[in-house]
Amino acid sequence: MDKTLFELVDKYIGNLFASEDRQLKDAIQRTVDSGMPQISVSATQGKFLQLLVLLTRASRILELGTLGGYSTIWMARALPASGKLVTVEIDKHHADVAMNNFEQAGLKDKIEIHVGKAMDELDSMIAGNEQPFDLIFIDADKPPYTEYFEKALALTHPGTLIICDNVIRDGKVLDEENNDQNVQGARRFNRMLSLNDKVSSVILATVGVKEFDGMAISVVK
Ligand code: SAH
Ligand code: DHB
Ligand code: MG
Repeated sequence: MDKTLFELVDKYIGNLFASEDRQLKDAIQRTVDSGMPQISVSATQGKFLQLLVLLTRASRILELGTLGGYSTIWMARALPASGKLVTVEIDKHHADVAMNNFEQAGLKDKIEIHVGKAMDELDSMIAGNEQPFDLIFIDADKPPYTEYFEKALALTHPGTLIICDNVIRDGKVLDEENNDQNVQGARRFNRMLSLNDKVSSVILATVGVKEFDGMAISVVK
C-alpha cells in the first residue's frame, strides 16, 4: 500500500473541498499544544461528516468523544440556527480545550459539552427523556462500541444516521488472533452491526492522511 500517495491524494482533495479556515487550524494547534493526542478526524473526513449533517437536515446531533472538538466544529457549522449538538467527553482537560475552541469558532451557543463517561451520559439522557437525535457520531473509546451503539438506539428516530469511527484499524480487524482491545472492540462491533435488524448499515473504508481505517454508517429503520 503506497501510504504516501494516499496522503498526497487526501491533501489534494482537502485543498479542493475541505480547506481549513483559521478556527479549524487553531483548534488542531491548541489540541497539539495542550499535549492531547492528534487523533481528530482528517479535514476531508470532517467535510464528509458536515455533508452528512446537511444530507440528513439534522438539527440535533450527538457526538461521543470530543477531544479538542475538531469533528464537532465541522458538524456544528452545518446546523440550522436553532440546531444543537451535544458532545460527550470523559477528560476534563480535553473538554476545556474543546470549549475554548467552540468559543473561538463562535459556536458556543450551539454546542453543549457533557463531561462524563459516554455510557453514563447515554443512560442519563435516556432517563431524562432527551429528544431523539437526527445524527449520532460515535468516536469515544473503542472496546464498548457495541454497547454505545445499542444504547444510542434509544435516542434515535426512524431515519437517524449513526456514524462510528475507526472500525477497520489498519485492516487489523481481519486478524482473529489480534488481541488489541481496540481491534477486538471494533471486530465485535462490526459483527453485531451486521446482524442488527434495527438498522441498515455499511462500512466505508477510508485511506488518507490518517491510518487506513473505516467508518460504519447506519440508518435507523
Ligand atoms: N471526535 C474527535 C476525536 C475523539 S478522540 C475528533 O475527531 O475531532 C476520542 C476521545 O474520546 C478522547 O478525547 C477521549 O478522552 C474520549 N473518551 C475516551 N473514553 C471515553 C469515555 N468512556 N466516555 C467519553 N469520552 C471518552
Ligand atoms: C484512535 C482513536 C480515534 O478516534 C481515531 O480516530 C484514531 C485513533 C486511537 O485511540 O488510537
Ligand atoms: Mg476517531
